[in-house]
Amino acid sequence: MKCLVTGAAGFIGSHLCEKLLDSGFFVTGIDSFTDYYSKELKKKNLEFLVKNKSFELIQGDINMMDMTSPIKKCDFVFHLAAQAGVRASWGDDFSIYTKNNIESTQKILETCKKYPVKKIVYASSSSVYGNTPDLPMKENSQLIPYSPYGVTKLAAENLCSLYHANYGLPVVSLRYFTVYGPRQRPDMAFHKFLKAVGENKPIEIYGTGEQTRDFTYIDDIVTANISAAEQGKKGEIYNLGGGNQQKLSHIFPVLETVCQKEIQINKIEKQKGDVQHTYASISKAQKDLCYQPLIKIKEGLEREWLWIKNVYSFQ
Ligand SMILES: NC(=O)c1ccc[n+]([C@@H]2O[C@H](COP(=O)([O-])OP(=O)(O)OC[C@H]3O[C@@H](n4cnc5c(N)ncnc54)[C@H](O)[C@@H]3O)[C@@H](O)[C@H]2O)c1
Repeated sequence: MKCLVTGAAGFIGSHLCEKLLDSGFFVTGIDSFTDYYSKELKKKNLEFLVKNKSFELIQGDINMMDMTSPIKKCDFVFHLAAQAGVRASWGDDFSIYTKNNIESTQKILETCKKYPVKKIVYASSSSVYGNTPDLPMKENSQLIPYSPYGVTKLAAENLCSLYHANYGLPVVSLRYFTVYGPRQRPDMAFHKFLKAVGENKPIEIYGTGEQTRDFTYIDDIVTANISAAEQGKKGEIYNLGGGNQQKLSHIFPVLETVCQKEIQINKIEKQKGDVQHTYASISKAQKDLCYQPLIKIKEGLEREWLWIKNVYSFQ
């Protein structure tokens, strides 16, 4: 079986490629190595993959390349390439978001239309819900994105749904909720917190710390992607959360235990586009994908801390 993974050099894409190879798939990865964060980190993410004979890397931008050859022989397409990040999506950089999130998705769908791909799994986001009052967030809750990033992720998700409705394309969209673990992007909270702890600097938090997130460990997300390809219902959308809602301020004692250091906190202004709460109802994914988040926050943070210490050479 052959798979295509877009965004293969990224945080989630690189883990997904490894798991697919372990499961016996041949994997083609595409990545343009955008400069949103260090290309060195992305190369490191690929360290194991490039040694595997069943893995092929295509370095290129989906919007600039002919997608026929990577897609035509694929059984499954996992479309994770995107411009991530809520805070950077304001201002002049918005066009990067429309190109890498909306246009690239339309191009993938148009190409898939011509070939017998068994399943296209799209990486959507909890950001499509914005500040919906409905908690936990259900797949049919009101969608009111609160950031330009969320708008582009919802637009791409809508494209997936309408290619399914009009052309019968076998698309499944997965709404990820704050993914963490080794290789987490440097702009994400736990990466920044753990790096600050390693450097003996205060942790900077946006707002009061009363905001909540449904943190989801990377391995649980990866497992669910493969289940979605194999048994997800075509045209459906599934939430993938960690199964509980955590107040950011409640994470700090856990961080102190994990890092065995006292941490200092510096509260700074709440950022535009940041929602107050995310919390996923995961019953639909549990039923259709047999999804069960397994890794609890302390264990997940321990694994991310080990990785951070290695990457930044902390003792
Ligand atoms: N990390 C999370 O918590 C989270 C939450 C919700 C949704 N998501 C979604 O999951 C996906 C992966 O996120 P991530 O955290 O791994 O991000 P990431 O930035 O680490 O990975 C994305 C990769 O896509 C590549 N890319 C971007 N545009 C491209 C293009 N036009 N052509 C080829 N490659 C391109 C980038 O170079 C990058 O390596 C994204 O679609 C993101 O929106 C992530």
